[in-house]
Amino acid sequence: PVLVLDFGSQYVQLIARRVRERRAFAMIVRHDISADRVKELDPIALILSGGPSSVYEEGAPKCDPGIFELDLPILGICYGMQLACQAMGAKVDAVPSREYGPAALREVDGSSPLLSDVPTGTTVWMSHGDQVHELGEEFIGLASTATCPLAAVRHRSRPVFGLQFHPEVSHTALGTHILGNFLDKVAGSPGTWTMEAYLDQAVRAIRERVGPDERVVCGVSGGVDSSVTAALLAKALGDRVVCIFVDNGLLRSGERAAVVDMFGRHSEAELRVIDASERFLTALEGETDPQRKRVIIGHTFIDVFRDEAKSIPGARFLAQGTLYPDVIESGGSPDAPAATIKHHHNVGGLPAELGFELIEPLRDLFKDEVRRLGIELGLPEGQVWRHPFPGPGLAVRCLGAVTRERLEVLRRADAIFLEELRAAGLERATGQAFAVLLPVRSVGVMGDGRTYESVVALRCVDTDDFMTADWTRLPAELLARASSRIINEVKGVNRVAYDITSKPPGTIEWE
Ligand code: XMP
Repeated sequence: PVLVLDFGSQYVQLIARRVRERRAFAMIVRHDISADRVKELDPIALILSGGPSSVYEEGAPKCDPGIFELDLPILGICYGMQLACQAMGAKVDAVPSREYGPAALREVDGSSPLLSDVPTGTTVWMSHGDQVHELGEEFIGLASTATCPLAAVRHRSRPVFGLQFHPEVSHTALGTHILGNFLDKVAGSPGTWTMEAYLDQAVRAIRERVGPDERVVCGVSGGVDSSVTAALLAKALGDRVVCIFVDNGLLRSGERAAVVDMFGRHSEAELRVIDASERFLTALEGETDPQRKRVIIGHTFIDVFRDEAKSIPGARFLAQGTLYPDVIESGGSPDAPAATIKHHHNVGGLPAELGFELIEPLRDLFKDEVRRLGIELGLPEGQVWRHPFPGPGLAVRCLGAVTRERLEVLRRADAIFLEELRAAGLERATGQAFAVLLPVRSVGVMGDGRTYESVVALRCVDTDDFMTADWTRLPAELLARASSRIINEVKGVNRVAYDITSKPPGTIEWE
């Protein structure tokens, strides 16, 4: 692997993804990982990330000085460069005023492998308050900008390089190329980490772990992560995978049929569909508090799932679609002890007490890689590019009391909105889109009559990671069509509103 040492930069995950785009397997590790542990992991190179601290401050995060003695190729980015240079005799100081934004690269030494094929004048992205002022004996400058004399450096004799700018952000025009230079030309990366190779390796690992008489239970929801998990397990184990799909009565229109259809066509795994809608809706009866709704749904799901899982002979493993960002976010790094998934996202998930061993075949992957793996496994494009759907389902979009009738109104409005979004070719361009049924009625006029009916809100957001989001500027014609179709076709709705709140301060869901 390539180890990315995390010094607290907001871009650490981006660095890892860029490295993987260049077909090398990147792992994010704590900044204070010991040199011995690094040796065990046997990386081809180290990347020291940026970070918010100053290297000369008391308590600034440092790395084990031993890692500089391992003779591994090292690329320091921003803080990482300052740290590496300081460790080898250079002097770091504050710049007169913090530099943030684009800059043109000058005096480029194109003979150095790092900057090979990087032209003078190319745009790089700066974001720093400190920089290396004096190189000392051991480093040589490779490029500068108008305000930063040492924008790129290399060590005289060791394979150690530094960049004051951020090659990982898209504003650095040739950033991925520069990272590629480091990987290919300095670290000698074979560039063989592809989804195809990953798939082979993942299949082998699953086969090694699960014995011939053992079975894996896999909860499926229709979402991307659980579908890819199930398909991957099925490829490795065939019918030794038993998938459980719980119909909680809170699904979107056509959801259950779509899951059954997909399984029929794309998987050898057994699929058990459990219709538990009665049980969920009874448990939710009269409940209007958002938090209590979630708790009820979570508990009911666990009960239903446990009952079914108990009836599967030889079931030893439970599969989960945990992704790499969950692992990093909760543990600080994958090298840290066991991850716990954010509570919020565990609603509709399963607790450890079910007595299974966990199997998490996606825990090394980012979301876009999971999608690529899905395509590699032969899942339909439409499935792989779906928007996420929350575990508690339509219950958290049916504000107020959840009844069959109100769910049906919501389901139909939601289906129309998504249909129009797809017809406009915008589903893939947006992060999430759905309808919300409000617990209020409004006055309207239809024909000659006055109406007093429900209000539906439409929500559509653009987001990279669902932690922050902005409302999508959907075309007015699309909103007009969705609105008039919903009011005409869904009985009981006489008004449609579009939600123009970003996150923060709003959340994506309404409750
Ligand atoms: P919020 O509303 O917190 O949502 O901005 C962020 C993302 O998380 C999804 N979400 C959930 N997913 N169980 C889930 O599996 C939940 O309880 C849950 N609540 C919110 C939401 O749809 C959005 O994608």
